[in-house]
Amino acid sequence: MKTKAAALTGPDRDWEILEFDLDDPQPGEVLVRMKVAGLCHSDKHMKYSAAVYPFVGGHEGAGIVEAVGEGVTRLAVGDHVACSWIPSCGVCRFCSTGQSNLCDLGANMVTGELANGGYRFHLDGEGIGAMAATGTFSQFSVLDQRSLVRVDSSIPLEWVSLVTCSVATGWGSVINSGNVRAGDTVAVYGCGGIGANAVNAAVNANADIVAVVDPVELKRTYAKQLGADFVFASAEEAHAELIDRTLGVGVDVTVVAAGVVTSDIVRAAFDVTRKGGTIVLTGVADDITEDTIVLSGSMLTLFHKRIIGSLYGGCNPVADIPKLLRLAQHGKLKLDDLVTRRYALGDVNQGFADMLNGHNIRGLIIHEDL
Ligand SMILES: NC(=O)c1ccc[n+]([C@@H]2O[C@H](COP(=O)([O-])OP(=O)(O)OC[C@H]3O[C@@H](n4cnc5c(N)ncnc54)[C@H](O)[C@@H]3O)[C@@H](O)[C@H]2O)c1
Ligand SMILES: [Zn+2]
Ligand SMILES: [Zn+2]
Repeated sequence: MKTKAAALTGPDRDWEILEFDLDDPQPGEVLVRMKVAGLCHSDKHMKYSAAVYPFVGGHEGAGIVEAVGEGVTRLAVGDHVACSWIPSCGVCRFCSTGQSNLCDLGANMVTGELANGGYRFHLDGEGIGAMAATGTFSQFSVLDQRSLVRVDSSIPLEWVSLVTCSVATGWGSVINSGNVRAGDTVAVYGCGGIGANAVNAAVNANADIVAVVDPVELKRTYAKQLGADFVFASAEEAHAELIDRTLGVGVDVTVVAAGVVTSDIVRAAFDVTRKGGTIVLTGVADDITEDTIVLSGSMLTLFHKRIIGSLYGGCNPVADIPKLLRLAQHGKLKLDDLVTRRYALGDVNQGFADMLNGHNIRGLIIHEDL
């Protein structure tokens, strides 16, 4: 079949809407009609970090099962699904110990190859990779059944899409990676799709102080709306105030969720974190090989701090996607407010421009009904 998708044809190029040939699902694979796709900063990073071009974008998304390949047991035609950008095989060392965010099948993020091997998108006969082997910027995509989580069909697909990356990653950065407890103090650097959900989590966890650093006023206003206690336009302002508010101690947990992480942002988070505290590094740089941690290791030791990387917020998608949706259904997570603007697939470049200009908390592509 044919499908239109937003793809990158080379480094630092705009997104282009191209028509691809899409293979039938192979054994264990599923054809999904995409309904909603989120514009996550990680897709923008693929302008510089994809292993191959052309590259179909999109890893946050939700859709409906259109067809299943041989041997598919997890899903049936008509099921509503969340697309998980890291698969859960259920049996690897990591999945079987509650760390599905590290599933052995998740090594395909920047090549976009399916777990069975090879590609289902083709252009002029050549196999084409899709972001995290999900490719939610395509009207249709073929995914491994292990990259899909069935959800209740009464839940809005926009919510389902949001929880597949921004909510899970932001929430998990605080709850799982930061291990934030009631009464803790938390500072979040960057309040986009990921950071906003870190704030949501810290507020839900009853943190004593929830602080946000973001240079964009709209983000700071939104952070306040979510329940942040203090917002700052710069790390310098935050440092002075937070050291003062914590009586010279520093905050318990910092989460770095800026769109493009630099060593300066990491240093600021490190400096405001108390002795024995935790710096959670969730955001990444445009060039994923860049050194974004440039710090005194001696200070790390002498102040007994911990810097930890957080992939997918340490979530287990099969358990956590439904859990986060339940929190939304119960009004604990305000997902509707996260969506600032909705775009047709053809307006994907405008969507990313709005993200970079600070106009969106989260922008969504709404795929047309075909
Ligand atoms: N670790 C993971 O599993 C994972 C998953 C998804 C996304 N990410 C990464 O997380 C980061 C955030 O993604 P997003 O989709 O929320 O991006 P976004 O563009 O929606 O939000 C980023 C925010 O950072 C703010 N910002 C910019 N410069 C800043 C600074 N100097 N200090 C503080 N804030 C600053 C921006 O104003 C914006 O509000 C990206 O690097 C993305 O690739 C990581
Ligand atoms: Zn696994
Ligand atoms: Zn993402």
